[in-house]
Order: sequence, then C-alpha cells, then structure tokens
Amino acid sequence: MIVTNKQSGTNVHEVADGIYRINTPVVMEGGPGGFSFNQFLIVDDAPLLFHTGPRKMFPLVREAVASVLPVERLRFIGFSHVEADECGSLNEWLAAAPQSTPLCGKIAALVSIDDIANRPARGLADGEPVSLGKHTVRWFDTPHLPHGWECGFLMEEQTRTLLCGDLFTQPGAEHPAITESDILGPSEAFRQAMDYYSHTSNGRALLEKLAAADPTTLACMHGSTWKGDGAKLLRALGDALSK
Ligand SMILES: [Fe+2]
Ligand SMILES: [Fe+2]
Repeated sequence: MIVTNKQSGTNVHEVADGIYRINTPVVMEGGPGGFSFNQFLIVDDAPLLFHTGPRKMFPLVREAVASVLPVERLRFIGFSHVEADECGSLNEWLAAAPQSTPLCGKIAALVSIDDIANRPARGLADGEPVSLGKHTVRWFDTPHLPHGWECGFLMEEQTRTLLCGDLFTQPGAEHPAITESDILGPSEAFRQAMDYYSHTSNGRALLEKLAAADPTTLACMHGSTWKGDGAKLLRALGDALSK
C-alpha cells in the first residue's frame, strides 16, 4: 500500500491483478466511526476508473490515479448509479482524460448522463462486455439494488472481481484494504440503521444474477475489499433482504 496524500490518508493498494483500490478515509467530527470512499482503477490498454468519488475529492483521487498511471491515459470513467460519490467529478475526469468516455448502464445514459456529462456516455445493456485489453468487464443491470433505477455493476472476468459499489457498505473510516472476514454483519447493521436500500422485491433475483457470475473478489465502494466465495455471500445478502 502507498499513501498518496498524507493529509487525507488517501492510499492505493492493488487488490487483484491490475486492479487498484484508491481509498480515502473520512473521519466525521463529533460522530462515531466515520466512513470511507473507494474508487477502483483497472490498469490495461484501455484503463478504466470505476466511480469517481465525490466532486470535492477529485484532487485526491486524481493524485492517487497519477501515482499508478498518467491520468490522460484513462479511456473509461465508469460508475454504478447517479450519485455524488459515484460520478460527482465525471466532468473533471472527462477534462483530465480527453480520450475517456463515461461508462454506465443504458438507463443512466438515457436519463441523466447524456445531459449532465460533457461528452456522450457509452450506455451498456445488461450482460454486455467491454474489453480493456487483458481485462474484460461485463455490465449487470440491477435496478433499485441497492438504490437507483439506473443502478448496475461491472464484473471483471479475468480476476473474477465484482465492482459492487454500495453493496456490502461497511461503516467506519479505517479498514484493511483486503479482508476475508465477515463484511455482511457490519453492512447489514448499517443497512438497518441508514435504510439506504430501496425496498425492491427483485433484490434476491438480482443478487442471484450476480452470484451466477461467481466472483471471488468483491470490490466495495465503502469499506474493505472482500475475498472469498462471492456467490455464497451474495446469496446470503439475498436471504437477509428477503427476511
Ligand atoms: Fe449509492
Ligand atoms: Fe456509495
């Protein structure tokens, strides 16, 4: 792990072959615990950043990406759904990487991004792959899971890494970059407290679709990256949502 910004504690750690987790811990004054924001950089012929982080965090994330590759090499700026921590600095990234394209689901492109973004998006259909070189990412639509009609995730097939956004969100500022211990318990406690999941009745079926892709790494936006039997953990989350 390398710290790329001492003041914020922003750091970079390779969590799978060619996939870098850019982590910024956020200690909240007066509140317990804090929170963390992770972005994921896939280094390849066509490098991809999955979620931008909040707009105000752009200088930190840019600095971290620049520690791995020249930012102008980025070709895709991807994200799960439309929210500040997912795509708040999308236009800053499009300016910093002139050959990059927003990458999201068709609904996000149609409803928001082709209006908000300074360049047209590549809107992916459910199951559509995108080759980055050695890595291939595949888009899965997951409407309203955990929130947002346009929500979806990318699975990187070479490393079997599911870029799972807000699924398994763990509270707190400090986490190990990678863990094999339980993340479902903490994320379920946080879901109960914050109610950030929609109450879609399709949750279990959507999680089953992700489980069928058989990930071994779950790259969470908030908290540690998890290694293990991803299908089993996704199904356990489906069970918890069905209770
Ligand atoms: Fe979100
Ligand atoms: Fe998030």
